[in-house]
Amino acid sequence: MIISGPSDYRRAAKRRVPRFLFDYLDGGAVTESTMRSNVEALQAIPLRQRVLQGGGTPALETEVLGSRWKLPVALAPVGATGMYARRGEVQAARAAEKAGIPYALSTVSVCSIEEVAKGANGELWSQLYVLKDRGFMQNALERAWAAGMKTLVFTVDMPLPGSRYRDRHSGMSGPHAKLRQTVQALTHPRWALDVALKGKPLSFGNIEAYTGREMNMDDYMGFLAKNFDPSISWSELEWIRDSWKGNLIIKGLLDKEDARDAVRMGADGIIVSNHGGRQLDGAIPTARALPHIVDAVGDELTVLADSGVRSGLDVVRMLALGAKGVLLGRAYAYALAADGERGVSHLLELIAADLRVTMTLIGAHSPADINASHLESAVASLA
Ligand code: FNR
Repeated sequence: MIISGPSDYRRAAKRRVPRFLFDYLDGGAVTESTMRSNVEALQAIPLRQRVLQGGGTPALETEVLGSRWKLPVALAPVGATGMYARRGEVQAARAAEKAGIPYALSTVSVCSIEEVAKGANGELWSQLYVLKDRGFMQNALERAWAAGMKTLVFTVDMPLPGSRYRDRHSGMSGPHAKLRQTVQALTHPRWALDVALKGKPLSFGNIEAYTGREMNMDDYMGFLAKNFDPSISWSELEWIRDSWKGNLIIKGLLDKEDARDAVRMGADGIIVSNHGGRQLDGAIPTARALPHIVDAVGDELTVLADSGVRSGLDVVRMLALGAKGVLLGRAYAYALAADGERGVSHLLELIAADLRVTMTLIGAHSPADINASHLESAVASLA
């Protein structure tokens, strides 16, 4: 299959992995309206074309939270990517390292913190969910720090998992899930041989490292189901700020009052995000929330953004709306599912090429230059 742009990786992933996995990645909550509107609202943002601005080829490097990124993007935490490619988290982290950008490891990764830190030397972030079992959280914080992960992404928009109806249709959950998954695996022999047989995809390294025992899929699901904690509030999270000496980034904010709370809690950064439309169906698209949040707290902490970013052009749009850096979620996970580390590396090259063209055509010389003046004025007035 010919890959000429980032969206081709979605089609390639659909061919390569069993349907229950593709739909788990590709789907969102309930009617998937927020998931779709993330993409649509972002793509509807018009940029201001400028000509004859000189300056040569734009530089793509930028500085975020005290470190140099070679591109204004990072790889978002995406759970269970080791089910899509063999030891998938290590492969993705290596591609990020080669591209000179951060990789955020999900709490619910197949590969453990230690395996990823051993397999890749770039900037690694560790993501943590709010879980009832404080012992698990403490253990994950200590292991991340010991492994050299100095940035913690604390995800707060999943006090409980969203309703993902597509998963019941595809066989990820629901009646006869195991049987349906087996049948789907048999009809995707390349994935079955490479990932299912050689990659031990049905284990979650961080949970096993904590419990100290091998678990089957039902054990993990049981652990997670009883551990999501809707009762938690900001004040109870102060211990995390107190015990984490590195950068603390709060992920999953859409509201400026919540962003102000993140400032009060002492966060170094936030990620404006609706979890790619996988949590509250009906939440506003990130592109619409972002300028208001930047306006409210942009001088006090570093504002990053994700959800719906599918191209370098979309990255530029997020930067123009006020983000200092942009996270790729599904965009890179499709590439990983399609072609492992090589796919993610190629995807990042496509994003870099797209960034160069877009930045040249709007007359921006570096990511730090991009601001609301690069938006058509009707949109810039939002910022
Ligand atoms: C996610 N996301 C996510 N976020 C997080 O903090 N921890 C996690 O474990 C996961 N897991 C996860 C799995 C899958 C399959 C997806 C698609 C997403 C959310 C992710 O970090 C990011 O916010 C979204 O992916 C951004 O939206 P787009 O770019 O994928 O539309």
